[in-house]
Amino acid sequence: MCGLVGYVGWRDAAEVLLAGLRRLEYRGYDSAGVALADEESEIGLRVLKKAGNIDDGLEKLLKNGSSNGSHLGIGHTRWATHGEPNDRNAHPHTDCPDELALVHNGIIENHQSLRKWLSGLGHEFTSDVDTEVICHLMEHYLQDEGDLSQALARSCEHLEGAYAVAVVQSPLGANEREIVAARKDSLLVVGLGDDENFLASDVPAILPYTRRVMYLENGDFVRLTADDVTVFRSDGRRVDRPVTEVQWDPVQAQRDGYPHFMLKEIEEQPAAWESALRGRLSGGEVDLQGLQFPALEDIEHIYFVACGTSYHAGMAAAPLWERLLQIPASAEIGSEFRYRQPLLGEDTLVVFISQSGETADTLASLDLAIEENCPTICVTNVVGSSMARRADNVIYTQAGPEISVASTKTYTTQLLILFLLACHLGRQLPHGQQHSETCDRLLAAMPSLSDLERQLLNDTTEIGSAAERIADWEDSFFIGRGLDYVSALEGQLKLKEISYIHAEAYPAGELKHGTMALIEEGVPVVAISTQPQLRDKMASNVEEVRARGAWVVAVTDQPEGEVARRSDAVIPVPDSEPELSPLFVGTALQVLAYRAAVLRDCPIDKPRNLAKSVTVE
Ligand code: AGP
Repeated sequence: MCGLVGYVGWRDAAEVLLAGLRRLEYRGYDSAGVALADEESEIGLRVLKKAGNIDDGLEKLLKNGSSNGSHLGIGHTRWATHGEPNDRNAHPHTDCPDELALVHNGIIENHQSLRKWLSGLGHEFTSDVDTEVICHLMEHYLQDEGDLSQALARSCEHLEGAYAVAVVQSPLGANEREIVAARKDSLLVVGLGDDENFLASDVPAILPYTRRVMYLENGDFVRLTADDVTVFRSDGRRVDRPVTEVQWDPVQAQRDGYPHFMLKEIEEQPAAWESALRGRLSGGEVDLQGLQFPALEDIEHIYFVACGTSYHAGMAAAPLWERLLQIPASAEIGSEFRYRQPLLGEDTLVVFISQSGETADTLASLDLAIEENCPTICVTNVVGSSMARRADNVIYTQAGPEISVASTKTYTTQLLILFLLACHLGRQLPHGQQHSETCDRLLAAMPSLSDLERQLLNDTTEIGSAAERIADWEDSFFIGRGLDYVSALEGQLKLKEISYIHAEAYPAGELKHGTMALIEEGVPVVAISTQPQLRDKMASNVEEVRARGAWVVAVTDQPEGEVARRSDAVIPVPDSEPELSPLFVGTALQVLAYRAAVLRDCPIDKPRNLAKSVTVE
């Protein structure tokens, strides 16, 4: 999820682009750049780009006189999904230097095959970024078409994946001072001004200049000049798109109108799951694009090492990995792992899970694993993060930036990637040993998960009611068995960290060994039940706590089942594969925590005492 801005009109384009990129920096901030049409000089098109955030990089470039009073340009602030965050990989990208420049938000899934084909035609690539293939396609077709719009339409015919792309041409070669752009599965809006027009990947970049916006649809192309905006389809047919008046202020607009980033990021989960799977799962087959993993026959033990919510993702993954890979697997807390002097070596695979890729304790554990010659895998959301650069293999969750301190979409995309990887590696076993039925069943379920998630998020009535009950108490308990105990751990952490309610997760079968003493009249207990083989025991555990006065809300995929029947309230979750239930239970408990925190008037996105990335031990 990157920030993209375009401007054509009477203002200083560099100023408009820089200001717009700043307002989109929450969408990505590992590098930034602009391409400015330099009408007054023989240069034609000036491309300025730099790694780092805007203050440290691009702004300094522009301040040292590189800006040229241009009135046409495009800009980009990057959240890397392909290629390290550095100057070379920053956008805009060009074909042969200075002829045309292009910025892109999204993922081109077939970029490797396109790169191979275009290289064979003699195109020279200068970056590691998927986007660059579009530049060379444009160059290829511009020679035929001579028209920027048509060249873009023909180029997009080759693209698979998601893109919002904007292109400008050097004034020296151009017929018109124009920007052309295209949209497929990645937001792109046009801002309509007086003798000026704007383009952006999100509304905040446009608001200071105009509130009249036009949302482009998938398959739309648009051509902007200072006094005209033309929307058309790939066959050249012109179409009209409604112009709406935006009521938000810029800060609200950064949150897409949501009151908090946390709620926005909870609601983004269906799309984030689609992004996590994009290009990696098709027709039941997994394609991890050439990632090389250690031979399983050489592995004697698997550790998942992480902190906080990411540790819970490891706990949820370990049983499935152990079953499908038939290798003992366990989850370890990052701040504990290295101090217990674990047995490590070439036969120990260590999987590091970290949204930020910078958590100090997890990173220190990775360094220990590397010292001990362990094969390592990192699952992270940040391209080029310290862990991504040090691990043998890295798989990106591709969830887009997560601004709220509480991990939501990055947790569930971690789960999804870990489940996908378990099935993929499980299929490496000799045929006679594979749990192929389980792998096939889980992989077959994955494409429909996002729609089930949308159903869950479309009706959170019962969750809201439960939140009202829980918000009135200073204590609460989360109980479950097996995977549901892991979901209980994650649910209690969410509630604690944003609503400040003391919450405790307990294996439901353990309560009678002491904690039951704390169950008193009215205390809220969240009872999670999604595991078929444990339902009867959970029903008995619910009975035990209710008999001592607890108020029980069941979180279950069986709203008519025995656990629900014995509870005071029910939060239904989609009836999917039991191994995947932490995805939906996790989401339901995120919403529960969020609603309770709102009722208690907590700050939500920046809870007291907490930081988004804990880079100290
Ligand atoms: C959970 O909501 C917190 N944000 C926190 O527990 C977090 O998961 C933990 O600090 C680990 O961070 P990481 O995933 O960036 O390593």
